[in-house]
Amino acid sequence: MEILQNISLKPYNTFGIDVRATFFINVKTIEELQLLSSEPFFTGNKKLILGGGSNILFTKDFHGLVLKTALKGIELIREDTNHYYVSVKAGEDWHGFVLKSIQQQWQGLENLSLIPGTVGAAPIQNIGAYGVEVADYIEEVKALEIKSGELQSFNAAACKFGYRNSIFKQELKGKYLIYEVVFRLNKIPKYNITYAPLKAALQEIDQEKLSAKHISDAVIKIRQSKLPDPEVIGNCGSFFKNPIVEEAIGQALLEKYPQMPNYAVGQGAMKIPAAWLIEQAGLKGSREGQVGTYQKQALVMVNHGNATGKEAHSFAKKIITKVNDTFGITLEPEVNIL
Ligand code: EPU
Repeated sequence: MEILQNISLKPYNTFGIDVRATFFINVKTIEELQLLSSEPFFTGNKKLILGGGSNILFTKDFHGLVLKTALKGIELIREDTNHYYVSVKAGEDWHGFVLKSIQQQWQGLENLSLIPGTVGAAPIQNIGAYGVEVADYIEEVKALEIKSGELQSFNAAACKFGYRNSIFKQELKGKYLIYEVVFRLNKIPKYNITYAPLKAALQEIDQEKLSAKHISDAVIKIRQSKLPDPEVIGNCGSFFKNPIVEEAIGQALLEKYPQMPNYAVGQGAMKIPAAWLIEQAGLKGSREGQVGTYQKQALVMVNHGNATGKEAHSFAKKIITKVNDTFGITLEPEVNIL
């Protein structure tokens, strides 16, 4: 296994921040990592596990060891009457896997087309889009405990999935390296086209003939029309979570702003789109130095050139302050700030 030293992380984060890592390893097999895990070099260094780097903002150099998951493989491991169980190695590109699942008629992931990142990172923040979350299709997450080098299996309940959240983002943060995910995919399609723009995009298609491919194509079109391509303009998708507020607070805001979009999320709570709050606060398409919010989607922060992580972080803090001053709601970053 090759240990690289003092390398730039710019190619490894979609925001395109140029920081350095002291050590860097491309993890190609879990066995080599298990062997390494007892070495003093490994135990003595701070570690960072990196997937596609699409949900991270680096604000400084990383003085430690970066483990980039590069394990590859997609395999149908079993099936029952209603499901296919597909095991996928962590380093597979998420969208590549979604396209393969559509081709194989392993149903369910079509709404999650074109999300940047790797398969191993998907459960960590429970990626979601257009009415579907990856948690709905996860059977098992296999992970290596960094401290002991032991392999462990987590079923969906043990992952404690929530909105853009899981145990791997909370109490187990940084403690495990996810090396494989087993998905439980449908044999009989159960399409979800509840998200209004998706429904509208599929209006022309005869409902009898609707397929996962149609949905995936429509999702790709919607994403391309609203979200910047990280290959073209640095970004990490939604920078903040959509805040969930108490029903009473939401209702009071609705009296003042009757046009405010909102979604009931049960237990007397209401989810408000952060993009709307940022836009109303006058910050959509705004720019400071090399960072700004995207002109077509206010929730996405973009790198206009050679932004530093510090400058992006301070811009994010300004957004939080302005939204708080305007609406009394505190936005929380969805991305990991390091
Ligand atoms: N809106 C604005 N201004 C904008 C953009 C949107 O007012 O600049 C309003 C829209 O009118 C709409 C509402 O905000 O009523 C929601 O916007 P959108 O449908 O674009 O979705 P979002 O809530 O901003 C979430 C996810 C996205 C996911 C989309 C679609 C989070 C944090 N983000 O965004 O996920 O693609 O829904 O399901 O939940 C990501 O996590 O990186 C991501 C891109």
